[in-house]
Amino acid sequence: MNNFTYYAPTKVVFGRGTEAQAGALVKEFGGTKVLLHYGGGSAERTGLLGKVRKSLEEAGIAYVELGGVVPNPHLSLVYEGIELCRKEGVDFLLPVGGGSVIDSAKAIGYGIANGGDVWDFYDRKRVPSSCMPLGAIVTIAAAGSEMSDSSVITKEEGGIKRGCNNNACRAKFAIMNPELTMTLPAYQTACGCADILMHTMERYLNHCDNMELTDSLAEGLMRTVIHNALILTDHPDNYEARAEIMWASSLSHNGLTGCGTDGGDWSCHRMEHEIGGMFDVAHGAGLTAIWGSWARYVYKENPGRFEQFVTRVLGVEPQADQDATIRKGIEAMEDFYRAIGMPTCMQELGVDPTPEQIELMAEKCSIAFNDNLGVVKVLHKADMAAIYRMAAGMERVEA
Ligand code: NZQ
Ligand code: ZN
Repeated sequence: MNNFTYYAPTKVVFGRGTEAQAGALVKEFGGTKVLLHYGGGSAERTGLLGKVRKSLEEAGIAYVELGGVVPNPHLSLVYEGIELCRKEGVDFLLPVGGGSVIDSAKAIGYGIANGGDVWDFYDRKRVPSSCMPLGAIVTIAAAGSEMSDSSVITKEEGGIKRGCNNNACRAKFAIMNPELTMTLPAYQTACGCADILMHTMERYLNHCDNMELTDSLAEGLMRTVIHNALILTDHPDNYEARAEIMWASSLSHNGLTGCGTDGGDWSCHRMEHEIGGMFDVAHGAGLTAIWGSWARYVYKENPGRFEQFVTRVLGVEPQADQDATIRKGIEAMEDFYRAIGMPTCMQELGVDPTPEQIELMAEKCSIAFNDNLGVVKVLHKADMAAIYRMAAGMERVEA
């Protein structure tokens, strides 16, 4: 087991009706004037924003509002939020929504607390030293931003989607009411489940073979997500399944399932961010569209780890040889994705990139990560392009 620091400072308030505690929680963490930040309309339509406003008013917390966050949140709205917060004297951020809204709030928080151009932090030119405090009210179980150290923003000009990881942006509190996720379209529920799975898969598929507890936690989480994601495809109103998925979303990305690893292999995430930046697809669907191609491309670098994954998590019976077991496991994973309505290639994602677009995505990803991506197999630009081509059906790698 490698040395590690586990830092999970977020107070979790979980369960039915917990959004009513928003005002009291802001007060507890010292907020006096809040930016209520939200997306394109779902939080208003469901009545959630009304409840949050009431809770803030009852606690004597003043607030201003900024809606309009889009999936793959835009830098321009972040700039707008920074200006608004400065003008209004906001001292606490309250995103109500999913990863996009929470990430947008984190970026606003960086911008206010550090000055200068906030994009520098996403462009890796500077490292933020602080962030305005925030608390999150989660409406979709997916990105896990409510407990993560991450924020992902898209600069519209050039379609550049980049993440910034820093402990300063960890939320002070997260309100998680699984009932709030019942209004999600089935596709978004499934995208969320895919993303949750991937956050632990990418920590799990690495080069560390000597972990018992971290592996057990990760395997238990992944089995739980697969089991409950399938329940939700037929029974979207099942509270218990919603609750399991929601709790998994936070634990999958707060660092717990990566303690003691080598940091994990984030290739699929980084490569998906290029797809999202160029084609504006839902993040979870972008991930499943390339995972199988990535897995087939890299598994021979650490077959033991992949075999452990497919037998313990997917329940694949050992085949004639290790290779066959892994190949069957990759197919089983893709069967699961299809069963919850997720794509397993670019065409199913609704994207048909040209060879030039594939080269451009590989080049942008390569530049962003110094032509050195992942740990199972270190990917260079040509490898990334090959994986994109496989996912687009232009190239086949025989496993
Ligand atoms: O905008 P509204 O109208 O609210 O609609 C949203 C949006 O269209 C809708 N939605 C959310 N809650 C709903 C609802 N619709 C009905 N009922 C509800 N209760 O769902 C759509 C997707 O929302 P979004 O916030 O984009 O989803 P998600 O949580 O998957 O966030 C995706 C973003 O997070 C980034 C992704 O790259 C992407 O930009 N990530 C952030 C991470 C982090 N900060 O730790 C890690 C992830 O790996 C990921 O990269
Ligand atoms: Zn993700």
